[in-house]
Amino acid sequence: MTARGTIRVPGDKSISHRALILGALAAGESHISGILQSADVHSTAGVLRALGVSVPDLSNSFRLVGKGLRGLRQPGTVLDAGNSGTTVRLMSGVVAAHPFTARFEGDASLSRRPMKRIAEPLTAMGARFEFARDDGLPMTIHGARLSGISWNTRAASAQTKSAILLAGLCGGVQVTVIEAQRSRDHTERMLTSLGAPVESDDTSVSLSPVEAIAPLELAVPGDPSSAAYLVALAVLGGTTEVQLPDVCVNRTRTGFIETLRQMGAKISYEDREAVAGDSSATIVARKSRLHDWIVSGAEIPSMIDELPLLACVAAAAGVTVEVRDAEELRVKESDRISTVARNLRAVGATVEEMHDGFVVRGEKRKLAGKVVTHGDHRIAMAFGILGALAGNAIEIDDPDCVAVSYPDFWQHLRSVG
Ligand code: S3P
Repeated sequence: MTARGTIRVPGDKSISHRALILGALAAGESHISGILQSADVHSTAGVLRALGVSVPDLSNSFRLVGKGLRGLRQPGTVLDAGNSGTTVRLMSGVVAAHPFTARFEGDASLSRRPMKRIAEPLTAMGARFEFARDDGLPMTIHGARLSGISWNTRAASAQTKSAILLAGLCGGVQVTVIEAQRSRDHTERMLTSLGAPVESDDTSVSLSPVEAIAPLELAVPGDPSSAAYLVALAVLGGTTEVQLPDVCVNRTRTGFIETLRQMGAKISYEDREAVAGDSSATIVARKSRLHDWIVSGAEIPSMIDELPLLACVAAAAGVTVEVRDAEELRVKESDRISTVARNLRAVGATVEEMHDGFVVRGEKRKLAGKVVTHGDHRIAMAFGILGALAGNAIEIDDPDCVAVSYPDFWQHLRSVG
């Protein structure tokens, strides 16, 4: 934090995972600064260490010596992905292209999440998967010599897309991923910036074989998904104004901010800059009057992690917001459709649950009650914003679960709230 109202939000989680993975696969020494030091990113570092990569302790600035595209070694232990879907899904693509067997495990929440979505394309490429149960972790992967693939994903998922791209990268084969809606595009942007031959348009991305990727020189920008909580706080009047410097404003990630603007919020981007094939800016948000809104279809992937927060914003602002086509929320760290609906009701809001979303019928009233997070960091932070607004009284059962993506969240909230 630099001054009251100015907060440097932590490094972007998606870019941080990819920085470690691509640095581990690069030919040479990468220099990475501003990486997110959270539980999820520690999970990726731990998995890479188990595969023979010397990943130093994560710090604000460090070097990482890559092993090349096929230089990982058979792990002597189980690969523990903790709570992190990005760790297991992206690293599955890498492991599938190596000539060894590895077993992934995770915590109770991650073990319930679907893994067939990555196992199907990677099996079609030639790897073999074994599941202890029908789907989900624990999962054993027998890596193999892979063949190229062109794959249509059912759900817009950057994790599935990235697993296939990383398998193609390490396997030295051509891959194409076709998505009905565009998911976040950090993997393809970062690969391009490291010299990999990537071609993409609005619905597909292709990667051609390459001998090596260059090491990274990367300053990780701030995470727009973490910034979203502080933006919401300011818009709802929990603080007069926030200024959030150096936040990633890639348009596959800014759906929440664009939606709030369409609802009437005063949010601006200042000092735009290009970083590693992406862009960052200072986000400035102020107290605003909002109106009713509906989000659906292609907008959903660009704000998938912020939808619980959008529901809380509607409840606090006293506006009606409908979210549709968001069935993916059911397979996140918790079933976020039912967790949002139950918790909003528990604090006194009116909400209707649908199979693919919800409608929050905002009425201006004080919100009070106990929130059950199911260990889901985004639920804790979304309701944390409600708790920071004058007159509300919200108790969160597991505030420490924010360590997954934003360990300093409560401290930052106190400093501006
Ligand atoms: C992520 C992709 C999204 C997102 C997750 C991070 C990534 O998941 O919800 O928090 O870094 O690729 P899906 O790919 O399952 O949509």
